[in-house]
Amino acid sequence: MVPLRSVDWDDGAVVIVDQTLLPNELRHLRITNVSHLVGAIKRLAVRGAPSIGVAGALGVALAARTHPPADQAQAFDDDVHALRSARPTAVNLARAVDRAAGARGGGYHAILAEGLAIRDEEIASCWSMGIYGSELLIELTGERPQRLMTICNTGGLAAVERGTALGVIQTMLERGLLAEAIPLETRPLLQGGRLTTWELARMGAPFRLIVDSAGPFLLAQGAADAVLVGADRVAANGDTANKVGSFSLALGARNAGVPFIVVAPESSMDLDTPSGEMIEIEDRGSEEVTRAWRETIAPLGTKAINPAFDITPHEMITAVVTDRRVIRLDRGEKLSEVPLGPLRTSHRRSAI
Ligand code: MRU
Repeated sequence: MVPLRSVDWDDGAVVIVDQTLLPNELRHLRITNVSHLVGAIKRLAVRGAPSIGVAGALGVALAARTHPPADQAQAFDDDVHALRSARPTAVNLARAVDRAAGARGGGYHAILAEGLAIRDEEIASCWSMGIYGSELLIELTGERPQRLMTICNTGGLAAVERGTALGVIQTMLERGLLAEAIPLETRPLLQGGRLTTWELARMGAPFRLIVDSAGPFLLAQGAADAVLVGADRVAANGDTANKVGSFSLALGARNAGVPFIVVAPESSMDLDTPSGEMIEIEDRGSEEVTRAWRETIAPLGTKAINPAFDITPHEMITAVVTDRRVIRLDRGEKLSEVPLGPLRTSHRRSAI
């Protein structure tokens, strides 16, 4: 599979894959100003917690080119503020923007170097999560081909080059241990139906797509061995913000007695937020719900409730897998207590 980067830097521009056009068209956008980048993040042309973190950090480099922080501090700060608040739920965005902006003393080149370092770290993290996650799955359900249910898109599109939860599924495929992936379509913006299916097909993975409401029922019928989801933010107590529908899957997994595993890099762990109720959940307004992709489906003027994310309580999560450790919440382990282990990238393969 030819590696593809959802977000990168090229000669003074942030280059993103426009994820709103997939799976019908693979088009890159070259973005050279901060307001266009903020717009791209808000309309989910670039999306997924690690990808928006990297986009935001590289956006700070764009800001520094236009408004050198030493001479135009106010304009630079305004750009940084616009980037860090483009979306509220994923901690990666504000954190990566702040980290890049922290290099302002070294000017544009130092900021760009920080943004590129964050990009490289996120790529390496995904390889490591694949190893930790696949070992956990083998421990929990045995070394045999597994059926793995997942929601939203947590592949390379969401995490720069390789995925978090979908990266574990890819690692299982590479190890000959994937019987089937079962992605949920993920209303309203269909990240599962449009993007995860596209990535699974590119990998050559066996998969079948389901509607969101079928997830808990199919789990009860024994259709999957485990559920793997990503995270936009994991609070200190393990409560996890992820794409809306994750909580229903956790309920379904508990009902069926199958493991519910969160896979996310350390850059999504937020020890400063004690629990899930303190996480701001992005409200994306009515229109995404009253339309099914581009067709209007509800009478004009219909109001909708549209939280983009939900919170899965830590009691319902079997384990959080990061790039540096596995935290067994089901055994009472705590994020603040489990020590960081090594970043494990030695099993890198140029994939299938
Ligand atoms: O609204 P999105 O598409 O950005 O939501 C993405 C998710 O919920 C992902 O599961 C999460 O960001 C982890 S991505 C590796």
